Amino acid sequence: MELNKDIDQFDIPLAKRTYLNNQNSTLLRKLLIFSPILLLIFSVAALRFIRNVELIPLNNLKFQVERNHNARILGHLPYNETPKEKLVLIEPNIEVHMDMRNSLLKMREEAKKDGIYLVFLSGFRSINLQNDIFYSLKSIRNQEAAERARVSAPPGYSEHSTGFAIDIGDATRRETDFETDFENTEAFKWLIKNAAKFHFKLSFNKDNKYIDYEPWHWRYEGSIEALKVFESSNRKL
Ligand code: DAL
Ligand code: ZN
Repeated sequence: MELNKDIDQFDIPLAKRTYLNNQNSTLLRKLLIFSPILLLIFSVAALRFIRNVELIPLNNLKFQVERNHNARILGHLPYNETPKEKLVLIEPNIEVHMDMRNSLLKMREEAKKDGIYLVFLSGFRSINLQNDIFYSLKSIRNQEAAERARVSAPPGYSEHSTGFAIDIGDATRRETDFETDFENTEAFKWLIKNAAKFHFKLSFNKDNKYIDYEPWHWRYEGSIEALKVFESSNRKL
């Protein structure tokens, strides 16, 4: 073995050994020349990545939360009107967002199997209709805006304009439609137990400071679009 090693060393001609050394130093030189360019490419890529990640400084975050809080009017958050092409008619006078159609109908079917008869009272409402409801009823009832806003959202501030809200009644207890007494119906008890399975959530609880308790008003949170729409509302301030 020892002998072979010695022979190997002498096997490489001197000229070739020098050539190999030259090759290494050329590579090193090339690397030195190109390193600033490589550094530049890396920095640009890193900057682009950071820009995409959008780092929000802490003081801006606080500002955003306050701005959302201030966006409320009389306790209601602003909502855009869902475009017509995203709405579907599920029965006469009841249009809802296409994302929630199947889940809503399935919920009614499942309730029926348990002997509970849900009735849909109000689905999508345009901002124009909400305008009529808010201003005409307010004046008919001789109520101030803050008083009216306890039971009805100002135009542009109703969950109904998103198509993701539905008012539900009990078909066997129609006298409780839009009444707090709806909470004593079998339909409401069934909803409290089962609505979450179908991605529905009660919007206005008893603990809301500004808006009256509405046991009949449910909103859908079963799609990414719906979750985005209600993100601010679900965020604890
Ligand atoms: N009744 C609820 C608050 C609305 O008008 O959207
Ligand atoms: Zn409602």
